[in-house]
Amino acid sequence: MVDISTPHFLELLHIISGGERYAYYTEMHFDQAIINHQSHLEAFIGPPRPNVIVQLGGSNPETMAQAAKILQDQGYAEVNINVGCPSKAVQHGQFGAILMKSPDVVANVLSAMQNAAASIPITVKCRLGVDQLDSFEFLHDFVHTVNSTSRPLPHLIVHARKCLLRGLSPKQNRSIPPLMYDRVYELSEKFPELPMTINGGFDNTDKISMALDRVDGCMIGRKVMDNPLFLQNMDRDIYQIPEHEIKSTASIISEYIGKNKA
Ligand SMILES: Cc1cc2nc3c(=O)[nH]c(=O)nc-3n(C[C@H](O)[C@H](O)[C@H](O)COP(=O)(O)O)c2cc1C
Repeated sequence: MVDISTPHFLELLHIISGGERYAYYTEMHFDQAIINHQSHLEAFIGPPRPNVIVQLGGSNPETMAQAAKILQDQGYAEVNINVGCPSKAVQHGQFGAILMKSPDVVANVLSAMQNAAASIPITVKCRLGVDQLDSFEFLHDFVHTVNSTSRPLPHLIVHARKCLLRGLSPKQNRSIPPLMYDRVYELSEKFPELPMTINGGFDNTDKISMALDRVDGCMIGRKVMDNPLFLQNMDRDIYQIPEHEIKSTASIISEYIGKNKA
């Protein structure tokens, strides 16, 4: 999440719940930023870890592939392509959610990245649709096209609402178009081989548990942004982590301050 999942925030999440139960996504980084700053990636992405996924924004297969290879070679474990951001700057750059209108471009980008960074998974995060392209058939065809590269897509994350490229701000695009979880569940049934994660509006562990009965994963954004200790609620309620393994807030703070001294 841009301006949120910075290296420091990711460090905090690792301290709160350090195992590999959760996958943590970095901010979206432009492919060119990775290429231009490859000598000091840790400074703005954080260190590579097995459960950290670097999200990239871009639509040029060559530069996206170059960025993915750099990340792979520096030890990053997974790369995700942003096909859901509706901001004006991102639309202007012809990537993010606008790419839902061009599934062939997404497939080409994915394929180039898979070839260049063959030893790490390359995944996609998208919306249910964009503007008037909001039918289930549209979503199905989008996923079918994106999933038809020579290596199948290892994981798809779907923000369960469409977005409108004009007339709504990015913030409004995270609340005004209605959430339609059933579309994601239906999509998952149509692509049983494709691991799928649902996203959007998950703010308590009951809802998350119900989602996990239907799909492979549940991505949580604002709930953890507003309250990182929500990870501990999931540790308790979803993973049944015993209370003595849950860190106190005081120990989290002292570990965080200690790690950030240098
Ligand atoms: C401040 C902020 C920054 C975000 N940045 C990104 C981003 O960089 N990449 C992305 O895929 N989604 C981004 N999102 C969207 C979230 O990942 C998520 O899809 C959306 O908030 C819906 O999930 P939630 O209801 O759990 O928050 C951002 C959301 C917020 C609030």
